[in-house]
Formats: sequence, C-alpha cells, structure tokens
Amino acid sequence: MKKKIIALLSASLLCVMPAISQPKVIELKADKPVGTISPTMWGLFFEDINFAADGGIYAELVKNRSFEFDKPLMGWEKLGQEHAAQFQLLNSGNENNSRFLRIETGQEKELSLANEGFRGMGLKAGETYRFSLMTRQNSGASSINIELLDDKGNCIGHSAIDGFSPEWKHSETAVLCSKTVEKGRLKVTFRGAGTIDVDMISLFPENTWKGRKNGLRADLVQKLADLKPGFLRFPGGCIVEGMVLENRYQWKKTVGNPNERKLIVNRWNMEFAHRATPDYFQSYGLGFYEYFLLAEDIGAEPLPILNCGMACQYNSGELAAAEDLEPYIQDILDLIAFANDDASTPWGKVRAEMGHPEPFHLKMVGVGNEQWGRQYIERLEKILPLLKAKYPGIAYVGGAGPSSDGKEFDYLWKEMRRLDVPLVDEHYYKTPEWFMQNAARYDHYNRQGPKVFAGEYAAHDKEGADAESRNTWKSALAEAALMTGLERNADVVRMASYAPLFGHVGAWQWRPDMIWFDNLRSVATPNYWVQKLFSTNSGNQIIAALLDGKPLAGQDSLYVSSCFDHQTSEIIVKLVNGSAGPQKLHLSLNGRLPSAKAAKTITLSASDLALYNTLDAPDTIIPVDGTVAISGKKVELNVEGYSFTVVRIPVK
Ligand code: AHR
Repeated sequence: MKKKIIALLSASLLCVMPAISQPKVIELKADKPVGTISPTMWGLFFEDINFAADGGIYAELVKNRSFEFDKPLMGWEKLGQEHAAQFQLLNSGNENNSRFLRIETGQEKELSLANEGFRGMGLKAGETYRFSLMTRQNSGASSINIELLDDKGNCIGHSAIDGFSPEWKHSETAVLCSKTVEKGRLKVTFRGAGTIDVDMISLFPENTWKGRKNGLRADLVQKLADLKPGFLRFPGGCIVEGMVLENRYQWKKTVGNPNERKLIVNRWNMEFAHRATPDYFQSYGLGFYEYFLLAEDIGAEPLPILNCGMACQYNSGELAAAEDLEPYIQDILDLIAFANDDASTPWGKVRAEMGHPEPFHLKMVGVGNEQWGRQYIERLEKILPLLKAKYPGIAYVGGAGPSSDGKEFDYLWKEMRRLDVPLVDEHYYKTPEWFMQNAARYDHYNRQGPKVFAGEYAAHDKEGADAESRNTWKSALAEAALMTGLERNADVVRMASYAPLFGHVGAWQWRPDMIWFDNLRSVATPNYWVQKLFSTNSGNQIIAALLDGKPLAGQDSLYVSSCFDHQTSEIIVKLVNGSAGPQKLHLSLNGRLPSAKAAKTITLSASDLALYNTLDAPDTIIPVDGTVAISGKKVELNVEGYSFTVVRIPVK
C-alpha cells in the first residue's frame, strides 16, 4: 500500500499522463550525424568509500593484517592468554610497517589469534584460500595451525605451517573451505614452546579476478568489466584530498611491496557521525599499480585524479602555500613517468619490477578533485604550465567544483576556459526531478573550448529504511533521462561516470551507490542497468531524433537520444518514458534503409517507481530483451509506462 502511494506521488511529480491514441513520430536523421561520441564516453568512478577497496574489491579477508590501525589489535581477539607477556606488540623501527606481534608459546597451553574480517569473512564451500604470514622464530620451535571458522565457531577448513627461521620469513599454505558462510572468521593457533614474531597475517581467496595472486574480488570486478567502461577514474573523490593534507592520497606510498605500503586512516572513517566506521583504514593493498592494472584488465582508459595542494574544502580546506607546490607537481610528473616511461627509466623500472614492463599508456590526469575558489585557480596556474611543458600530450582535467550551477560554478568554468583545460569535471548529486528537468542541460552549451566530463552524478531519491532503498527505479529512470541529454550532446560531453560505485550493505557511509555487496554476494541496482544499457549500446556518431523538429527532452515525459554504430551498422535509439502510462511511438528512419525486418529491444521498466533491487531479490528490475517489427522505414512500438528502452535498428 505504502509503495503504491509513493508510486502515485512520484507519478504526479514526474509527469502528467499523456493520451495514448495518437502515435508520436520521432524522426531519426540517420544519414546526417551531428557529432562523434567518444569511445571513453561511459566510464567508472572508483573511490575507497563504503568499504569499496579494503573489505570490498580488494579480496584480502583479514582486517588490520599488520597491526597498524590506530588501535593495533582492532579486529583481532587474543585467545588462551594467561599473562600479559604472552602477546607483545613490538615496534619494528620500520616507518612503513611499524608494528609486529611477539607470541610466547608454552608447551601446555595453546595461544591463538582470531580475526573477524571486514564485518565477518565471506567463505565459500569448495573454494581454496591462501593463508600467508611473515614470521621470525626467536627461540624454541613453533608450529602454526590455521582454521577457518563458521559463524558458530566450528572449523570449516584447516591447514598448518612450520619450519620457521631466526630471520623474517614469508610462509603460505592453502586452506580448503567446506561450508559457505557470510560471517566466518580466521583462527591462528601457535603451538610448541618458544617465542615467535608474526606480521602481515593474510587470507585471500585463490579465486580472484583473472586468478591474480592476492588480487581482487572476482564477482565485483566482473560487474565492472560487464559495463565495458571507457575509463576508470581513481582513487576518488574526496579521498584524493584528505581531511588535512597529511592524509591526502599519495600514490608513491601505494606502490611496491604491499608489506611496505604505509597504511593510513580512511578519510570516510569518521566523516559522518551517523555512519561512523572506526575500523576503516587504507591498507593500500589496492594501490596505484593495481588501479592501472584493473583499468587495463577491463579495457578502460586510466584516469588518476591527483592532489593539487588542497585538502577537502568541506573539512579543513588546508592549503599548500602556492610557493610550496613543488612536491605536488613532482608527484604528478612522476606518476606520468611511472605509467608511461620505458622500463629502463627510474619510475618505469618500479612499474616493471611490479610485473608490468610495458607502459600503461596514460593519457589523462585530473588535477584536484572537487576544489573551488580562487585558491584552486591560483594553484592550477602554477601547476598546469609545468605539467604541459614536460608532458604536452596528456589531457589535464580541471574541475567545476561541487555545484551543478551558480556563481562559483560559473567562475570556475570561466577560469577553465582561460586556462585552456581540455576537460572540466562537473558534479551533480540532485533529486530525480532535477535530473529530468536537466535533460536539455547541454543542448545549448558552448561548443568552443573545454569539453565536459560529468565526473560524479547520481539522482538522490528519498531516504528509505534499508541500505539499498535509495537506488530506486525512480532515481535510475531520472538518470536515464539525463543521460539521453549527455548522449545527444556527446560532442561536448565527452565522458561521464556515476558515483559512487560500491556500497557494502553493512559498512556504507554514502548512498545511493551503483553496486551493493555483502561478503559473499553483490547486486546490480537499476542505476547499474541504466549505465550498462548506455555503455554497451554506445555508438560512434550522434544522430538527431526529433519530434516536431525538436530534440525530445521531456515533452510528454519522453527523453530520447540516438546514435549510429559503425561496427554493427545499426541505429541505436534510447527512449525514456517518464509517464505512468504507455506511449505509442513511430521511429521514422530518414536517409538510411533498414537491413532487416526486425529491430532488437532491451527494456528496463517497473510500474512502481519506489522499487529497487536487493541482495535477496536482485532481479526486481532487470533488462528484458525483445524484438519489434520494422515496416518499411518505420519501427512502431509501445513503450511501457516508467520505462527505459533501447532499440537497435540494423541499417544499410
Ligand atoms: O562520491 C562521493 C563524494 O562526493 C566524492 O568523494 C566527492 O568528490 C563528492 O563530494
């Protein structure tokens, strides 16, 4: 009942119901493309927010594996301890990995450590897990017993390691799991009499994305790969900036041996009091090398965003003085060298030693995340000329701040033109109504000078009781409407990415998010499907789709874009019906003849705008394939109420 009321209210918000009788003729100017669509048009925004990296896509199951959290034993439980000296936390003197644990074992009593994982450990029956750790045996002789535990403490997989040495040594063993649990744990038991030091206690599934050792969670990356993204923006987001400059993202600290990557607090850890996540840190197991590799693996252009000497302006807004920007500039230059220089050069060598002698072919770099004000421009004025002088072939992306419009937005755009940046990053987190009303936003944008990178956007629907509840069909449909406007104006909007990408149902700070997950499963939201229908049905050229000689950006609640795909020789039409009732449409091909008797359709629809997908009901709103007849030069179809339809018309 409640849902019905919401649906009715939403319907009245979105539209008035048009009469169905007269078909509307939409003319497709198939022989006169009006612009090109960039191959990087639809991409991804990745930020380590909502447990997206540690506890998410980075498949490490042990939380606080090297005892470096502010509370060094957070996530760990000591078992069997009788006196304090049995577990000693020692300082190693190594600045990057400063602590390890010394365990004094006796003959009689076993001592164990248990790790709770990231809100539990997702363990799967029949899967093998790789346990590893660093040890140093100081005296006596120990052996280590490894157990996977279910949520009741029963052993569901075990293995053992021995043969330690007085020098630090890496050991690993495989553990086969016999039961699937969402909230499992790891127990490590120390046997024999002696003193042993341990560090970097780790557990990874062997089944990772592309089987990479200690790699990424396969199901989550698969969802990204399925989007066929044009680019991958990383590592954020505000995480680039830090609350203060000290905890900004510094890429050089995230490459090389993972044991030597200095962990820092995640800036989302305590950002929102109502969603405090005190156990949120960045181990940097997913660091810049892994981001580049991920981009390459999923066929996306890498787009790193780097700090420009400014901490988050929603927090401290701390600035590096304009005359002290050299380290920031050097970081950007060195990153380009790391990605692109020959393996014989210092930074190329670092990349090659990590396993990638070939360059990553970096073409774009963002300078600053979501900055604003004169202080941003002053820093860009100093930074950009030096970057351009050394690497003129790179596109340096600037930003238009956090607002979609207004005085600050206009000021930043004016400055971006003056500074001649090729792409300007716009952000909008707005209501579904705003998205619908802004479908024509780019129809009259200035075509000269910088192009648009819609780098962060999402329609924010009303608050609901459940974690996923704001990724409603209403929000996704509104995004689809706006995206027809992005595609129609793809000559000026060259790139776009929904944000944020991931949300852990038990550990999120920000919603809505495109993909939700727990420790075992993940669910594609309707917003994900909208993104996928655009990115996997993206043509190369924009084709005008006109009703009464005008683009459709909300007339009768219809939003339309159309393009031509050279590879398949198809006209692809995207139709959003924002009204509650069906609408009868005629797509009229102008200037090209159809080459088949039927066109393919893919439809997303739901009569209830408040619906959303959950982990338990992931298929509530999913694409449905169909066909529609082509008669002469016309495709006649009824688009359902509240629907998004893609039509692929084969042409000669
Ligand atoms: O996507 C979440 C946050 O929104 C990003 O970190 C920031 O850039 C924006 O304010």
